[in-house]
Amino acid sequence: MNFYERELRALKRANRFRERHIYADASIDFASNDYLGLAHRKELLHSACTLLQQYEIHAPKASMLVNGYHPIHQNFERALCLANGFEAGIVLGSGFNANIALIEALARRGDTLFIDEQFHASGMLAVRAIDATVIPFRHNSAEHLESLLRASGSKRNIIVVEGVYSMKGDLLHRDIIDLATRYEALLIVDEAHSSGVIGAHLLGVFDHYNIAVAPNHIKMGTLGKAYGSFGGYILASDHIVTYLINRAKPVIYATAPSLFDTLLAHQALEYIQEHHAALQEQMVRRRTIVEALLEIKMPALIAAIPVGSNTKVLAIQQALLREGIVVGAMRPPTVERAIVRMIARLGESEEMLQFTCKFINNFQVK
Ligand SMILES: Cc1ncc(COP(=O)(O)O)c(C=O)c1O
Repeated sequence: MNFYERELRALKRANRFRERHIYADASIDFASNDYLGLAHRKELLHSACTLLQQYEIHAPKASMLVNGYHPIHQNFERALCLANGFEAGIVLGSGFNANIALIEALARRGDTLFIDEQFHASGMLAVRAIDATVIPFRHNSAEHLESLLRASGSKRNIIVVEGVYSMKGDLLHRDIIDLATRYEALLIVDEAHSSGVIGAHLLGVFDHYNIAVAPNHIKMGTLGKAYGSFGGYILASDHIVTYLINRAKPVIYATAPSLFDTLLAHQALEYIQEHHAALQEQMVRRRTIVEALLEIKMPALIAAIPVGSNTKVLAIQQALLREGIVVGAMRPPTVERAIVRMIARLGESEEMLQFTCKFINNFQVK
């Protein structure tokens, strides 16, 4: 038996083996990150198709640095900047690539990069490719971060955090944003799970805390979650975006983002801007249901329900599947201890959400 087969067997023994599944379209979806249910809004699909047909080409063909940059990209970047209050923006092929681009290009030798210990795998991969000093800090702990910043002798400090953490579903501590200002550090905020979900205008964590965007702020986001499309983006000061265009490998050495997906995300941005109040209301109702029935906090739309045992979390997932309901069963190493990860997304009814919460509760106490 070779190394890989032995490792796969060990994963199976520990109930940590992963497989891809194709779920029926008709399944009740409390697992995906399509927070606002936009992935099945046909009017968005139709308008993106209609708009794309008005152009000569429908594929990006080349890197943005060759001739792949298209008015569709530029228009969307401008719309994102205007909505979020940033000077400049750039779209990328994915959120994963956006994090690699930011960390690999901005953190130089002599810098210190402080990263939340629960930051997404894309950032954890990127920090292995840099010469800067990398210091993980305790999850969402402003106290720990401040003690590290105080001790840092670097000219440039970079802080890397998420607006809403993908597994715990908790919100970035406001003090961390303030620390970045006080210590004149660059602040990279991954808004994959907060953009489109929190804030008065559903723009994410700066919007939520009502913090005016400053030159040291960098916002990164995905188009694959609340925006119901595919791709990623970075918003920052003009000089930072220009620097990324000159230095970031996922920008320079990759085909420009899909024109169709960029247009679709642009439609979603306009939809969210137009309907933010109604969407907000629906989200509040879902938060109330989850917090009342499961007795856990859900500041965004991620419910992280502690289970502990890998076997039990899989049993809960299977039992729900028999009811036609899909939830995530997260196990180590993705999380420290097994959780059911339920996304209280707007694409499903409140009644189904209530049913699912009660079902999980009953199962937990058995
Ligand atoms: C926090 C976070 N950042 C980045 C990504 C990557 O974004 P994308 O799926 O667009 O590559 C994800 C998940 O997909 C995520 O959860």
